[in-house]
Amino acid sequence: MGEMVAEILGFLTDHFGEDFQSYSRSLVEKRVAERVRQLRLPGLAEYRQLLQCDPAEPSYLSRMLRIRFSSFFRDPLQFELLRSQIMSSLLPAPSQGGFLRAWSAACAGGEEACSLAIIIDETLQLLDVRPKVQIFATDVAEDALEEGRAGYYGAGSLGGVTLHQLTTYFTADGSGYRVAPELLSMISYCRHDLLDPHTFAPPESLFGGFDLICCRNFLMYLDPQAYLRVFDNLFRALNPGGVLLLGKAEAVPERYHQHLARIYDCGNLYRKQQTGRC
Ligand SMILES: C[S@@+](CC[C@H](N)C(=O)[O-])C[C@H]1O[C@@H](n2cnc3c(N)ncnc32)[C@H](O)[C@@H]1O
Repeated sequence: MGEMVAEILGFLTDHFGEDFQSYSRSLVEKRVAERVRQLRLPGLAEYRQLLQCDPAEPSYLSRMLRIRFSSFFRDPLQFELLRSQIMSSLLPAPSQGGFLRAWSAACAGGEEACSLAIIIDETLQLLDVRPKVQIFATDVAEDALEEGRAGYYGAGSLGGVTLHQLTTYFTADGSGYRVAPELLSMISYCRHDLLDPHTFAPPESLFGGFDLICCRNFLMYLDPQAYLRVFDNLFRALNPGGVLLLGKAEAVPERYHQHLARIYDCGNLYRKQQTGRC
């Protein structure tokens, strides 16, 4: 199986001009086997042929590998700790008139970026301050970004939203909910490939300088080398004193242990130390 899967990944990499070889081999093997079963093909060799002949198949497989699932406040404890204990410490001092800059990296359809926007807005209301806020939401998949820009979500993805947030930040529309335009206007959606070796942060952000980075449920799908490479970039893009949110199944690599302090025992939130060099 190994060699044929490597060949399939090589094909996708050439076809799209994007790195498909950095995803974890066990994930890819599972997904390809699933696709072979779905299509009732005898084996991988036939699937490899199909990839070449059917123009729709490469996109289909790439979507299967770049798992898209997301939801609002997906880890409720983590987002609650961010909202109630941490967010105010990230705001610029009113006298400095600065920006609060956040990055939702691998944002899928924008559920995570909107969750951040809600938490930030709630904090600003509570403290009655109005610093400028920029939230960059990036993903490699253009159609995911389109969903984010549209700001329309089915009830199924809103499970973590409170009733108060639902009535404040959403309007019911048909079978789903539309995000308030003021919230959407806090977010800039742009394409950014976290595996692109030529850039460490979205160029639209003028390269990093983030107070808050949320990169959840993406690193876990990478092989160990790519995990480190992407982590290096996230660390570089985070301001000293800034906060990093990881997914439940993701950890800070050992070489960053003294540069990123775990804020609580739970919640997977880390603060970059002021002297954070590696
Ligand atoms: C499981 S979703 C995570 C969404 C969100 N962060 C969350 O935790 O709910 C993984 C996302 O990573 C994106 N992705 C996959 N490969 C990527 C890459 N090379 N660069 C940027 N995003 C990527 C996928 O398109 C997908 O939207």
